[in-house]
Amino acid sequence: MREAPALALRLADVSKEFGGLRALDRVSLAVAPGERRAIIGPNGAGKTTLFSLISGETRPTVGRIALFDRDVTRLSPHRRAALGLARTYQITNLFPRLTALENCLLAVQALTPVKLHLHRALTRYPALFERARGVLDAVGLGDKEGDAARNLSHGEQRQLEIALALAGMPRLLLLDEPTAGLSPAESHSMTALLKKLDPAITLLVIEHDMDVAFELTDRITVLHYGRVVADGFAHEVRANPLVQEIYLGAP
Ligand SMILES: Nc1ncnc2c1ncn2[C@@H]1O[C@H](COP(=O)(O)OP(=O)(O)O)[C@@H](O)[C@H]1O
Ligand SMILES: [Mg+2]
Repeated sequence: MREAPALALRLADVSKEFGGLRALDRVSLAVAPGERRAIIGPNGAGKTTLFSLISGETRPTVGRIALFDRDVTRLSPHRRAALGLARTYQITNLFPRLTALENCLLAVQALTPVKLHLHRALTRYPALFERARGVLDAVGLGDKEGDAARNLSHGEQRQLEIALALAGMPRLLLLDEPTAGLSPAESHSMTALLKKLDPAITLLVIEHDMDVAFELTDRITVLHYGRVVADGFAHEVRANPLVQEIYLGAP
């Protein structure tokens, strides 16, 4: 059996420059297995760039990234996904005409050697079918499996995106603003479902709403102009004068 990793994620002195702009500036971060961590910070702070670096869609200008104690700095996004990484995006990523269940089936089969033909009876793929149903249930959409994705409410579409990310059975899940654009009620359901996710999954959540961040996670990392300006337990971060200045405009 493989030994449990010491860290789910480690960034060591990671910087990212776009032309002359330094989007991330010597960011170091260590996330333990099973931890729930929020990344907060104003627009343009570098939060989404941080996720793209972790998932491998962008490469750091300098610095190293490790997943589950393994250096992945040069690995493709595909190889990182195979190590147990999944992410959602700020922009929706669904097939609008396919049903909720078909979206999940495609996500599940993308990670298996089985080739899926949607025109064949679903019953010919019992294992995939079961997994797809399982992830739909996990996000509370079990009763919407036959609905086309485009006919789901905005909140349900965001839930479906979480289901797609869960399809690969990730060990580390990156969620980019899961409650963005949701009504208060939808935001509440989303928070509740995220709290119910398998505790073995390490969760990194970019969250605009500080209250949601505090409710979901024990530890918070604050980015500001590409730098980590605070990192610690929620109550410490909340009391940090710089964080109060950034968020509340306190002098
Ligand atoms: N592909 C890119 N090319 C050029 N600039 C980018 C790119 N991606 C992000 N940026 C810039 O990097 C900074 C951080 O962006 P981003 O990571 O999206 O911030 P956040 O998610 O915290 O709002 C912004 O100034 C943004 O304009
Ligand atoms: Mg962003």
